[in-house]
Amino acid sequence: MTEISMENIATMLVTSSKGILAADESTGTIKKRFDTINVESTEETRRDYRELLFTAEDVSDYISGVILYDETIRQTGSNGITLSQTLSSQGIIPGIKVDKGAKPLAFSDGELVTEGLDGLRERLQEYYELGARFAKWRAVISIGDGAPSQYCIDVNAQALARYAALCQEANIVPIVEPEVLMDGDHSIDECYAVTETTLKTVFDELYKQRVVLEQMLLKPNMVVSGKDCPDQAGVEEVAAKTIYCFEQTVPAAVPGIVFLSGGQSEAQATEHLNAMNALGRHPWELSFSFGRALQASALHAWQGKSENVGAAKTAFLNRCRLTSLARDGNYSPDMENN
Ligand code: 13P
Repeated sequence: MTEISMENIATMLVTSSKGILAADESTGTIKKRFDTINVESTEETRRDYRELLFTAEDVSDYISGVILYDETIRQTGSNGITLSQTLSSQGIIPGIKVDKGAKPLAFSDGELVTEGLDGLRERLQEYYELGARFAKWRAVISIGDGAPSQYCIDVNAQALARYAALCQEANIVPIVEPEVLMDGDHSIDECYAVTETTLKTVFDELYKQRVVLEQMLLKPNMVVSGKDCPDQAGVEEVAAKTIYCFEQTVPAAVPGIVFLSGGQSEAQATEHLNAMNALGRHPWELSFSFGRALQASALHAWQGKSENVGAAKTAFLNRCRLTSLARDGNYSPDMENN
Protein backbone atom coordinates (compact mmCIF):
# COMPACT_ATOMS: atom_id res chain seq x y z
CA MET A 1 0.00 0.00 0.00
CA THR A 2 1.32 3.48 -0.77
CA GLU A 3 2.15 5.82 2.09
CA ILE A 4 -0.97 7.69 3.21
CA SER A 5 -0.90 10.04 6.21
CA MET A 6 -2.60 8.98 9.43
CA GLU A 7 -5.00 11.93 9.15
CA ASN A 8 -6.07 10.67 5.73
CA ILE A 9 -6.43 7.07 6.87
CA ALA A 10 -8.60 8.21 9.79
CA THR A 11 -10.77 10.31 7.48
CA MET A 12 -11.04 7.55 4.88
CA LEU A 13 -12.26 5.11 7.54
CA VAL A 14 -15.20 7.38 8.35
CA THR A 15 -16.01 8.55 4.86
CA SER A 16 -19.69 9.06 4.06
CA SER A 17 -21.81 5.88 3.74
CA LYS A 18 -18.98 3.61 4.95
CA GLY A 19 -17.79 2.16 8.23
CA ILE A 20 -15.66 -0.57 9.75
CA LEU A 21 -16.25 -4.31 10.04
CA ALA A 22 -14.85 -5.70 13.30
CA ALA A 23 -13.77 -9.25 12.36
CA ASP A 24 -11.07 -9.46 15.02
CA GLU A 25 -12.69 -11.96 17.38
CA SER A 26 -9.99 -13.75 19.36
CA THR A 27 -9.75 -17.52 18.92
CA GLY A 28 -11.79 -17.97 22.11
CA THR A 29 -14.53 -15.54 21.06
CA ILE A 30 -14.93 -16.87 17.52
CA LYS A 31 -15.26 -20.38 18.98
CA LYS A 32 -18.19 -19.11 21.06
CA ARG A 33 -19.79 -17.67 17.89
CA PHE A 34 -19.22 -20.91 15.95
CA ASP A 35 -20.62 -22.95 18.86
CA THR A 36 -23.98 -21.21 18.30
CA ILE A 37 -24.15 -22.75 14.79
CA ASN A 38 -22.46 -26.04 15.75
CA VAL A 39 -19.39 -25.44 13.62
CA GLU A 40 -16.00 -26.57 14.83
CA SER A 41 -13.56 -23.68 15.14
CA THR A 42 -10.37 -24.58 13.25
CA GLU A 43 -7.83 -22.43 11.45
CA GLU A 44 -9.50 -23.46 8.20
CA THR A 45 -13.14 -22.80 9.20
CA ARG A 46 -12.15 -19.43 10.63
CA ARG A 47 -10.37 -18.61 7.37
CA ASP A 48 -13.29 -19.78 5.21
CA TYR A 49 -15.78 -17.73 7.21
CA ARG A 50 -13.74 -14.54 7.12
CA GLU A 51 -12.88 -14.98 3.45
CA LEU A 52 -16.60 -15.23 2.71
CA LEU A 53 -17.17 -11.84 4.36
CA PHE A 54 -14.21 -10.14 2.70
CA THR A 55 -15.11 -11.35 -0.81
CA ALA A 56 -18.84 -10.50 -0.76
CA GLU A 57 -19.51 -8.62 -3.98
CA ASP A 58 -19.35 -4.82 -3.68
CA VAL A 59 -18.61 -5.00 0.06
CA SER A 60 -16.31 -2.01 -0.47
CA ASP A 61 -19.38 0.14 -1.20
CA TYR A 62 -20.16 -0.06 2.52
CA ILE A 63 -17.00 -1.08 4.34
CA SER A 64 -13.96 1.22 4.56
CA GLY A 65 -11.81 -0.94 6.84
CA VAL A 66 -11.74 -4.35 8.51
CA ILE A 67 -10.19 -5.11 11.91
CA LEU A 68 -8.33 -8.41 11.70
CA TYR A 69 -7.00 -10.80 14.32
CA ASP A 70 -3.32 -11.82 14.40
CA GLU A 71 -4.08 -15.20 12.82
CA THR A 72 -6.19 -13.67 10.03
CA ILE A 73 -3.69 -11.03 8.89
CA ARG A 74 -1.24 -13.88 8.21
CA GLN A 75 -3.72 -16.13 6.38
CA THR A 76 -3.94 -16.80 2.66
CA GLY A 77 -7.33 -17.18 1.00
CA SER A 78 -8.45 -19.83 -1.50
CA ASN A 79 -7.36 -17.50 -4.35
CA GLY A 80 -3.74 -17.78 -3.16
CA ILE A 81 -3.37 -14.19 -1.94
CA THR A 82 -3.38 -13.03 1.66
CA LEU A 83 -6.68 -11.95 3.19
CA SER A 84 -5.08 -8.59 3.93
CA GLN A 85 -4.28 -8.12 0.20
CA THR A 86 -7.80 -9.26 -0.72
CA LEU A 87 -9.05 -6.31 1.31
CA SER A 88 -6.55 -3.71 0.08
CA SER A 89 -7.09 -4.69 -3.56
CA GLN A 90 -10.73 -3.61 -3.10
CA GLY A 91 -9.72 -0.32 -1.45
CA ILE A 92 -10.60 -1.62 2.03
CA ILE A 93 -8.04 -0.69 4.69
CA PRO A 94 -6.75 -3.60 6.81
CA GLY A 95 -6.59 -3.01 10.57
CA ILE A 96 -5.39 -5.17 13.46
CA LYS A 97 -6.45 -5.89 17.03
CA VAL A 98 -3.31 -5.51 19.14
CA ASP A 99 -4.51 -5.88 22.72
CA LYS A 100 -4.10 -9.22 24.45
CA GLY A 101 -7.43 -9.22 26.21
CA ALA A 102 -8.91 -8.03 29.50
CA LYS A 103 -7.43 -9.70 32.60
CA PRO A 104 -8.36 -9.47 36.32
CA LEU A 105 -7.18 -6.20 37.88
CA ALA A 106 -5.15 -6.65 41.09
CA PHE A 107 -6.81 -5.44 44.32
CA SER A 108 -10.12 -4.80 42.60
CA ASP A 109 -12.56 -7.65 42.86
CA GLY A 110 -14.07 -8.52 39.49
CA GLU A 111 -12.74 -5.55 37.50
CA LEU A 112 -10.55 -5.94 34.42
CA VAL A 113 -7.53 -4.29 32.87
CA THR A 114 -6.49 -4.82 29.25
CA GLU A 115 -2.99 -6.19 28.68
CA GLY A 116 -0.68 -6.17 25.66
CA LEU A 117 1.78 -3.27 25.97
CA ASP A 118 4.93 -5.41 26.32
CA GLY A 119 6.60 -5.75 22.93
CA LEU A 120 3.90 -3.66 21.28
CA ARG A 121 6.35 -1.36 19.46
CA GLU A 122 7.89 -4.36 17.66
CA ARG A 123 4.54 -5.97 16.94
CA LEU A 124 3.25 -2.74 15.40
CA GLN A 125 6.23 -2.61 13.06
CA GLU A 126 5.51 -6.13 11.89
CA TYR A 127 1.78 -5.43 11.45
CA TYR A 128 2.61 -2.36 9.36
CA GLU A 129 4.69 -4.57 7.07
CA LEU A 130 1.79 -7.00 6.85
CA GLY A 131 -0.43 -4.16 5.61
CA ALA A 132 -2.20 -2.87 8.73
CA ARG A 133 -2.80 0.88 8.69
CA PHE A 134 -4.96 1.12 11.79
CA ALA A 135 -5.25 -0.78 15.08
CA LYS A 136 -7.66 -1.45 17.92
CA TRP A 137 -7.32 -1.80 21.69
CA ARG A 138 -10.40 -2.51 23.79
CA ALA A 139 -10.74 -1.64 27.48
CA VAL A 140 -13.70 -3.06 29.39
CA ILE A 141 -15.58 -1.17 32.10
CA SER A 142 -18.42 -2.94 33.96
CA ILE A 143 -21.28 -1.34 35.89
CA GLY A 144 -22.67 -2.88 39.10
CA ASP A 145 -21.91 -3.59 42.78
CA GLY A 146 -20.01 -0.34 43.28
CA ALA A 147 -18.18 -0.75 39.97
CA PRO A 148 -16.54 0.81 38.18
CA SER A 149 -13.88 2.15 40.52
CA GLN A 150 -11.96 5.24 39.42
CA TYR A 151 -8.85 3.04 39.85
CA CYS A 152 -10.11 0.69 37.11
CA ILE A 153 -11.00 3.57 34.78
CA ASP A 154 -7.59 5.20 35.38
CA VAL A 155 -5.42 2.17 34.65
CA ASN A 156 -7.41 1.30 31.54
CA ALA A 157 -7.20 4.89 30.29
CA GLN A 158 -3.43 4.94 30.86
CA ALA A 159 -2.99 1.73 28.88
CA LEU A 160 -5.22 2.99 26.05
CA ALA A 161 -3.14 6.16 25.79
CA ARG A 162 0.17 4.26 25.87
CA TYR A 163 -1.13 2.03 23.07
CA ALA A 164 -2.36 5.02 21.04
CA ALA A 165 0.96 6.86 21.30
CA LEU A 166 2.90 3.75 20.21
CA CYS A 167 0.57 3.32 17.23
CA GLN A 168 1.08 6.87 16.04
CA GLU A 169 4.85 6.48 16.42
CA ALA A 170 4.52 3.49 14.03
CA ASN A 171 2.32 5.38 11.52
CA ILE A 172 -0.73 3.33 12.48
CA VAL A 173 -4.04 5.04 13.33
CA PRO A 174 -5.19 3.94 16.80
CA ILE A 175 -8.83 3.15 17.43
CA VAL A 176 -9.30 3.88 21.11
CA GLU A 177 -12.05 1.66 22.52
CA PRO A 178 -13.21 2.11 26.09
CA GLU A 179 -16.31 -0.11 26.25
CA VAL A 180 -18.78 0.40 29.08
CA LEU A 181 -20.62 -2.92 29.06
CA MET A 182 -24.41 -3.26 28.68
CA ASP A 183 -24.49 -6.20 31.12
CA GLY A 184 -26.57 -5.52 34.24
CA ASP A 185 -29.84 -3.93 35.28
CA HIS A 186 -28.56 -0.34 35.53
CA SER A 187 -30.50 2.58 34.09
CA ILE A 188 -29.51 4.60 31.03
CA ASP A 189 -28.56 7.46 33.38
CA GLU A 190 -26.06 5.23 35.17
CA CYS A 191 -24.62 4.27 31.80
CA TYR A 192 -24.43 7.96 30.93
CA ALA A 193 -22.56 8.83 34.14
CA VAL A 194 -20.01 6.01 33.77
CA THR A 195 -19.48 6.69 30.06
CA GLU A 196 -18.95 10.41 30.72
CA THR A 197 -16.38 9.77 33.48
CA THR A 198 -14.62 7.16 31.37
CA LEU A 199 -14.36 9.39 28.30
CA LYS A 200 -13.16 12.39 30.33
CA THR A 201 -10.45 10.23 31.90
CA VAL A 202 -9.45 8.71 28.55
CA PHE A 203 -9.09 12.10 26.80
CA ASP A 204 -7.14 13.47 29.76
CA GLU A 205 -4.66 10.57 29.42
CA LEU A 206 -4.49 10.92 25.63
CA TYR A 207 -3.54 14.58 26.15
CA LYS A 208 -0.91 13.75 28.80
CA GLN A 209 0.64 11.15 26.54
CA ARG A 210 0.76 13.50 23.51
CA VAL A 211 -1.61 11.56 21.29
CA VAL A 212 -2.60 13.53 18.17
CA LEU A 213 -6.39 13.71 18.11
CA GLU A 214 -6.63 14.18 14.32
CA GLN A 215 -4.84 10.84 13.87
CA MET A 216 -7.16 8.62 15.92
CA LEU A 217 -10.72 7.37 16.06
CA LEU A 218 -12.84 6.74 19.16
CA LYS A 219 -14.80 3.50 19.44
CA PRO A 220 -17.26 3.89 22.31
CA ASN A 221 -20.43 2.21 23.51
CA MET A 222 -23.72 3.97 22.95
CA VAL A 223 -25.41 5.32 26.10
CA VAL A 224 -28.13 2.68 26.65
CA SER A 225 -30.06 1.00 29.47
CA GLY A 226 -28.47 -2.11 30.99
CA LYS A 227 -29.59 -5.31 29.26
CA ASP A 228 -31.64 -6.40 32.29
CA CYS A 229 -33.02 -2.98 33.22
CA PRO A 230 -36.83 -3.26 33.37
CA ASP A 231 -37.24 0.29 32.06
CA GLN A 232 -35.58 0.27 28.61
CA ALA A 233 -34.86 3.71 27.12
CA GLY A 234 -36.29 4.29 23.64
CA VAL A 235 -34.37 5.12 20.48
CA GLU A 236 -34.72 8.90 20.72
CA GLU A 237 -33.50 8.95 24.33
CA VAL A 238 -30.50 6.77 23.49
CA ALA A 239 -29.59 9.04 20.58
CA ALA A 240 -29.98 12.28 22.56
CA LYS A 241 -28.08 11.08 25.64
CA THR A 242 -25.26 9.52 23.61
CA ILE A 243 -24.71 12.69 21.59
CA TYR A 244 -24.92 14.90 24.69
CA CYS A 245 -22.33 12.70 26.41
CA PHE A 246 -19.89 13.10 23.51
CA GLU A 247 -20.48 16.85 23.34
CA GLN A 248 -19.30 16.99 26.96
CA THR A 249 -16.24 14.80 26.47
CA VAL A 250 -14.95 14.27 22.91
CA PRO A 251 -12.88 17.09 21.37
CA ALA A 252 -13.98 18.28 17.93
CA ALA A 253 -10.47 17.53 16.59
CA VAL A 254 -11.27 13.80 16.69
CA PRO A 255 -12.34 13.02 13.09
CA GLY A 256 -14.72 10.19 13.86
CA ILE A 257 -16.60 8.13 16.38
CA VAL A 258 -17.15 4.52 15.32
CA PHE A 259 -19.58 2.67 17.56
CA LEU A 260 -19.29 -0.89 18.78
CA SER A 261 -22.58 -2.79 18.87
CA GLY A 262 -21.88 -4.41 22.24
CA GLY A 263 -24.60 -7.07 22.22
CA GLN A 264 -27.42 -5.01 20.72
CA SER A 265 -29.34 -6.80 17.98
CA GLU A 266 -28.53 -5.91 14.39
CA ALA A 267 -31.72 -3.88 13.98
CA GLN A 268 -31.37 -2.11 17.33
CA ALA A 269 -27.77 -1.01 16.72
CA THR A 270 -28.73 0.17 13.22
CA GLU A 271 -31.72 2.13 14.45
CA HIS A 272 -29.67 3.86 17.16
CA LEU A 273 -26.90 4.80 14.71
CA ASN A 274 -29.48 6.16 12.31
CA ALA A 275 -31.21 8.27 14.98
CA MET A 276 -27.92 9.90 15.97
CA ASN A 277 -27.02 10.77 12.40
CA ALA A 278 -30.56 12.02 11.75
CA LEU A 279 -30.12 14.56 14.57
CA GLY A 280 -28.04 16.66 12.20
CA ARG A 281 -24.42 17.59 11.82
CA HIS A 282 -22.00 16.87 14.63
CA PRO A 283 -18.35 17.90 15.11
CA TRP A 284 -17.21 14.31 14.36
CA GLU A 285 -18.34 11.76 11.78
CA LEU A 286 -20.60 9.19 13.46
CA SER A 287 -20.06 5.77 11.99
CA PHE A 288 -19.84 2.11 12.94
CA SER A 289 -17.27 -0.52 13.82
CA PHE A 290 -19.70 -3.34 14.46
CA GLY A 291 -18.83 -6.97 15.04
CA ARG A 292 -21.96 -8.87 15.98
CA ALA A 293 -24.40 -6.34 14.50
CA LEU A 294 -22.84 -6.88 11.04
CA GLN A 295 -22.20 -10.61 11.28
CA ALA A 296 -25.09 -12.27 13.15
CA SER A 297 -27.30 -12.91 10.08
CA ALA A 298 -24.36 -13.98 7.91
CA LEU A 299 -23.13 -16.45 10.52
CA HIS A 300 -26.61 -17.90 10.86
CA ALA A 301 -27.04 -18.23 7.08
CA TRP A 302 -23.61 -19.88 6.67
CA GLN A 303 -23.86 -22.75 9.19
CA GLY A 304 -20.35 -23.82 8.15
CA LYS A 305 -21.54 -25.26 4.82
CA SER A 306 -19.97 -24.38 1.48
CA GLU A 307 -23.38 -24.56 -0.24
CA ASN A 308 -24.54 -21.69 2.02
CA VAL A 309 -21.70 -19.32 1.16
CA GLY A 310 -23.84 -17.42 -1.38
CA ALA A 311 -26.72 -16.98 1.08
CA ALA A 312 -24.32 -15.89 3.82
CA LYS A 313 -22.76 -13.28 1.51
CA THR A 314 -26.22 -11.98 0.63
CA ALA A 315 -27.19 -11.73 4.31
CA PHE A 316 -23.94 -9.95 5.12
CA LEU A 317 -24.29 -7.46 2.26
CA ASN A 318 -27.87 -6.72 3.26
CA ARG A 319 -26.70 -5.89 6.80
CA CYS A 320 -23.85 -3.76 5.42
CA ARG A 321 -26.26 -1.85 3.18
CA LEU A 322 -28.73 -1.10 6.00
CA THR A 323 -25.95 -0.06 8.37
CA SER A 324 -24.46 2.17 5.68
CA LEU A 325 -27.85 3.86 5.25
CA ALA A 326 -28.01 4.41 9.02
CA ARG A 327 -24.51 5.87 9.01
CA ASP A 328 -25.95 8.69 6.89
CA GLY A 329 -29.32 8.92 8.69
CA ASN A 330 -31.24 7.36 5.77
CA TYR A 331 -32.42 4.09 7.36
CA SER A 332 -35.88 3.18 8.56
CA PRO A 333 -36.83 0.00 10.48
CA ASP A 334 -39.36 -1.03 7.81
CA MET A 335 -36.42 -1.67 5.48
CA GLU A 336 -35.65 -4.73 7.63
CA ASN A 337 -38.49 -6.64 5.99
CA ASN A 338 -37.60 -5.94 2.36
P1 13P B 1 -19.40 -5.76 18.74
O1 13P B 1 -19.96 -4.80 17.72
O2 13P B 1 -19.89 -7.16 18.58
O3 13P B 1 -19.50 -5.22 20.14
O4 13P B 1 -17.84 -5.90 18.42
C1 13P B 1 -17.13 -4.76 18.17
C2 13P B 1 -15.78 -4.90 18.73
O5 13P B 1 -14.81 -4.83 18.02
C3 13P B 1 -15.64 -5.08 20.18
O6 13P B 1 -14.30 -4.91 20.56
